[in-house]
Amino acid sequence: MSSIQRVAGMQDVLPADRAYWDKVIGAAEETALHYAFQRLDVPIIEYTDLFERGVGTASDFFVQKEMYTIEEEDGDSFALRPEFTAGVVRAYVENGLNNETQPVKVYTFGPIFRRERPQAGRYRQHSQFNCEIIGETDPAADAEAISLALDYLRRLGLRDLSVQLNSTGCRRCKPAYVEKLRAYLKTRPEKLSPVDQERLRRNPLRIVDSKEPGMDAVLAEAPHIIDHLCEDCAAHYAELLQILDRLGVPYRQNFRLVRGIDYYVQTVFEVWAEGIGAQSALFGGGRYDGLSEAIGGPPAPAVGFGSGIERVILAMQAQGVEAPQPPTPQVMVVHFGGETKLAALELAQALRAAGISTFFAFARERRSMKSQMREANRRQVRETLIIGEDEVAQGLVTVRPMDGGEQTAVPRGEIVAWLQQRAEGRR
Ligand code: HAM
Repeated sequence: MSSIQRVAGMQDVLPADRAYWDKVIGAAEETALHYAFQRLDVPIIEYTDLFERGVGTASDFFVQKEMYTIEEEDGDSFALRPEFTAGVVRAYVENGLNNETQPVKVYTFGPIFRRERPQAGRYRQHSQFNCEIIGETDPAADAEAISLALDYLRRLGLRDLSVQLNSTGCRRCKPAYVEKLRAYLKTRPEKLSPVDQERLRRNPLRIVDSKEPGMDAVLAEAPHIIDHLCEDCAAHYAELLQILDRLGVPYRQNFRLVRGIDYYVQTVFEVWAEGIGAQSALFGGGRYDGLSEAIGGPPAPAVGFGSGIERVILAMQAQGVEAPQPPTPQVMVVHFGGETKLAALELAQALRAAGISTFFAFARERRSMKSQMREANRRQVRETLIIGEDEVAQGLVTVRPMDGGEQTAVPRGEIVAWLQQRAEGRR
């Protein structure tokens, strides 16, 4: 019988990977707290309707074909969250956070599910660090989201980062621009691939970031949204650039950045890491002023971003950024069965209660000293504590330092203090 494997596009996070996860999550949390964000957690499952109304059915990726949905017998439809923002805004509305001092600045972490075609850096379950500033129109909030993203990545030691920036207008100016774009593209049908022809019918804006061959030349001459913004959007964008310039935040204006989610208005941005391959977007975000109203809430202009933790780790590994391994357990307690096993178990419990990280040498039968020492070596403990018949009789513990130091007998009542002193000396 073949063994069952994990589902394609899903990842195991092994103990050996944990150091990277801890470093990334630690840096993210620390940066969010420095920017005065608070933690908010939302469920993994929401009503499908939330994403259909919030994220938008024209978002050609997740709502149309990439959501994992669960249909209940009573007609309810649930979805595994394909992103955080809609759930965070639902929580903001449902819990009356709009009545608190605005804006509300929240961050969260957790798994996200999308039925994507799995490839390096693109998974069906990934984890995001997500930040949202809800209840604010000031472009300084957009700048804050971008600065936070960069500070976090730099805190991790990443280099060669580039902020890609664009404005996609608002409900007033975007439709007129999309019409201009459609008109332009319609004059060149022979240049569009079948995929882009379909986009032209459904969501022409997505053609702007099309990766289909030959599109660079077609789009170079296309109208750019930045030249067709309404007064409000143009002023918002200009102030954002002014703030970023003043703060020395580097960015690159990218007229082809439109992002794949319907709720965006005005600012959209991504942070790319150079040289890590096709899935180089470590961050994606933007402004979504109409999302709260789209899901039945009060007006709540907002801006935020999501960042894939796995991708940040891939970038760290590609750039040779290391994560410190956590210290190995301090001691292993070994014994020779019978009464020595029970005494060793008592000792292990007392050490743990005193905060000393302890392995106990499991054994159904009496094990040789050699086999137990081999295990202690492999587990890289600092000291092995031996409980034999003599030790039990005399109330002692024999300590063997694993760095080759001399073996010592320590009275049972003094062992905790003795080990703590050793650990102190190593610091
Ligand atoms: P997104 O661009 O779809 O935006 O995802 C944000 C980030 O999550 C990406 O830049 C990437 O690092 C990571 N990511 C996305 N899909 C995958 C995947 N299949 N495998 C691995 N990593 C992935 C959003 O989700 C928006 N909700 C962000 C946002 C928050 N906008 C405003 N507020």
